Amino acid sequence: MILARNLTQKTRPYPFVKWAGGKRQLISQMDKFFPENYNKYIEPFIGGGAVFFHLLPDNSIISDNNPDLINCYKVIKEDVEDLIKSLKKYKYEKDYFYEIRALDRDSKKFTELSDVEKASRSIYLNKSGYNGLYRVNSKGFFNVPFGRHKNPKICDEINLRNVSQVLKNAEIFMGSFENCLDYAEKDDFIYLDPPYFPLSDTALFTSYTKNSFDKSSQIKLFEVFKELNRRGCNLMLSNSYSEFILDLYKDFKIVTLKAKRNINSNSQKRGLINEVMVLN
Ligand SMILES: C[S@@+](CC[C@H](N)C(=O)[O-])C[C@H]1O[C@@H](n2cnc3c(N)ncnc32)[C@H](O)[C@@H]1O
Repeated sequence: MILARNLTQKTRPYPFVKWAGGKRQLISQMDKFFPENYNKYIEPFIGGGAVFFHLLPDNSIISDNNPDLINCYKVIKEDVEDLIKSLKKYKYEKDYFYEIRALDRDSKKFTELSDVEKASRSIYLNKSGYNGLYRVNSKGFFNVPFGRHKNPKICDEINLRNVSQVLKNAEIFMGSFENCLDYAEKDDFIYLDPPYFPLSDTALFTSYTKNSFDKSSQIKLFEVFKELNRRGCNLMLSNSYSEFILDLYKDFKIVTLKAKRNINSNSQKRGLINEVMVLN
């Protein structure tokens, strides 16, 4: 990767948001499975982009069906200096947080915000909200509570500029994962990291957006996986270590990874759980 080789520690970007299900902690276990050579890199569930920022591909297409998140990627790519200016206005303070959070309750006011203002609000809420979660209620209103952080870096100026630089080589789309069938070709590398199939009815968080990712979405994703495999793409897919997923992908190579996750409602109690990575 030419781009990655030219970056020093100071210019190497990292995820600009904390994202539920982020893969940062698993990269060292995944590293040996990334293909050495490929044509385009495609990531249809980009989230915080831990794998993308690890690989720093020269030529990529990234997407997600979360419009607020995709707006952030586009604004960072095209308008990073205005975004930095806008982010500098925010303060880490509880009442102020709830004021900013409430902006989406007034649809007229909200649509009047520019894309830069929407992106800075999303980044601010992510940095100041509880645990970097993104969650909306049934009306689509952001409803994550204020988080307790020590001095959160709301405007990480240097990283935002570094991210902007690497996004210059990426095409960014908003939409559902199956759209990747419109452009995936032989020898492309596609990393698929969907919301995980829950281990129990309440165990896992699957409502990143208004439409949660249910069993039929997992089956649709499996159909897309098979089609991409037929085309000769290099594939890697993450999911939970569940009977349903193990059975669905039984004809492919399955690797087990160990992830640190909250194992019960007490967030202090973290344990190691198995996750799967499917390869073709
Ligand atoms: C497990 S997270 C990805 C985490 C990412 N790999 C990281 O390191 O931060 C799953 C992502 O899928 C997105 N998503 C949910 N349903 C989707 C769909 N139907 N099509 C595309 N993206 C979807 C969510 O918005 C979320 O960002």
